[in-house]
Amino acid sequence: MSDYAIGLVGWGTVGGGVLNILQQDGTLLKERCNLNVRLKAIVTRNPDRARDQKPGSAVVGSDLALITDDPEIKTVLHLVGGTTAAKDIAIACLRAGKHVVTANKALLAEHWDELFAVAKETGHTIAFEAAVAGGIPVIAALRDGLVANDIRGIYSILNGTCNYILSRMTQDGMGYDEALGLAKDLGYAESDPTLDVNGTDTAHKLAILAQIAFNTNVPFCAVHIEGIENISADDIESAQRLDSTIKLLGVAKRCPAGVELRVAPTLVPNSNPLAHVNANYNAVRIMANNAGPTLLVGQGAGALPTASAVLSDLIDIAVGSYQRTAEYFRFFAGGEPSTILPEEDEFTASYARFRVKDEPGVLAQMTATLSKHGVSLRAVHQGEPDADSTAEIEVTTHPTRGGAFLSAVKEIDQAGITVQPTVCLRRLDEG
Ligand code: HSE
Repeated sequence: MSDYAIGLVGWGTVGGGVLNILQQDGTLLKERCNLNVRLKAIVTRNPDRARDQKPGSAVVGSDLALITDDPEIKTVLHLVGGTTAAKDIAIACLRAGKHVVTANKALLAEHWDELFAVAKETGHTIAFEAAVAGGIPVIAALRDGLVANDIRGIYSILNGTCNYILSRMTQDGMGYDEALGLAKDLGYAESDPTLDVNGTDTAHKLAILAQIAFNTNVPFCAVHIEGIENISADDIESAQRLDSTIKLLGVAKRCPAGVELRVAPTLVPNSNPLAHVNANYNAVRIMANNAGPTLLVGQGAGALPTASAVLSDLIDIAVGSYQRTAEYFRFFAGGEPSTILPEEDEFTASYARFRVKDEPGVLAQMTATLSKHGVSLRAVHQGEPDADSTAEIEVTTHPTRGGAFLSAVKEIDQAGITVQPTVCLRRLDEG
């Protein structure tokens, strides 16, 4: 059995999970992989952590040289957050001749080209299964299991906090703030949940997935991002009336003119399995030309699920199978960014809720405006008028150019027939 020495940078939640798995399931790994994974050094800003968890035979310190100067260490588990020091650490490890396994999606999404350029130059690799959807082996599925497929689209739920909030609002009628408070208490949300609820965390993960799925360079800054902060109880009720469920979806779709890449709260018809992925679960639905639609569901965060993904990368690297596809990932370094379609050119189905004056001709004027902009209606529903002589009209559309739909809604709002700004949401139509 060969010995494989590794280093760990960052002894937080996921680092602790890695230690737990190595201590509890090390024998299983040895038997399966004929490999003795030996954690030789831990670099942490908080050496007191050793009071909570035994580091085994690993030496613990705060100096990265403990790892970079040790020629025996072949791979570094890079489990630090942020994008500044984290980038320097990853690059220092690559330059010291180590492979790097990271769970840091923000780092990858924002500095992909630079990191992979260094990986290419040094002949080492960066693995990142843990950066997208925690314990779900989605990167492995894309680079291995689905390698013989042209990937047409990805529809995903990639943030457990948002999924938890929306699930509690939908299933229990809970308010947004209360559900967010519970997500924090349960440890799903980050200490500052802004990046969770505003869609940025989902966008980081989506950009990484799209790079791998479409074999192209996808700049993170081009993702269109809307969060769930403004989703109201009325939106949730409307979705339920339409036999749909609101999910924060990350969508990456290849079209003849480019790539659609967006994160947005979306009405998912209940006939789609994504509508039934609840609580803090993540899910990735991959539309593959040969395998067909494939749905992966699981825990997208947490110490053990994320550590499970970290260790799968480590074993892949240690046995040499990751390097087989490493060139594929390096290919992107410095490549031309692919064309990301502007939001107005995206082709999506939509939902709108108008509050209108209950007067003759209002519905006719609305539908004439939608028709003028080329928007094809799928369904229209008007509720009973309220005491203030206004009524709610909800429409869903067939897939339409996004710009046409938004222009039509703007024109309707400006025509003086609506009494409050119209609510617009996407509606999932996998077409
Ligand atoms: N806070 C994230 C979530 C996990 O709620 O899914 C880390 O990306």
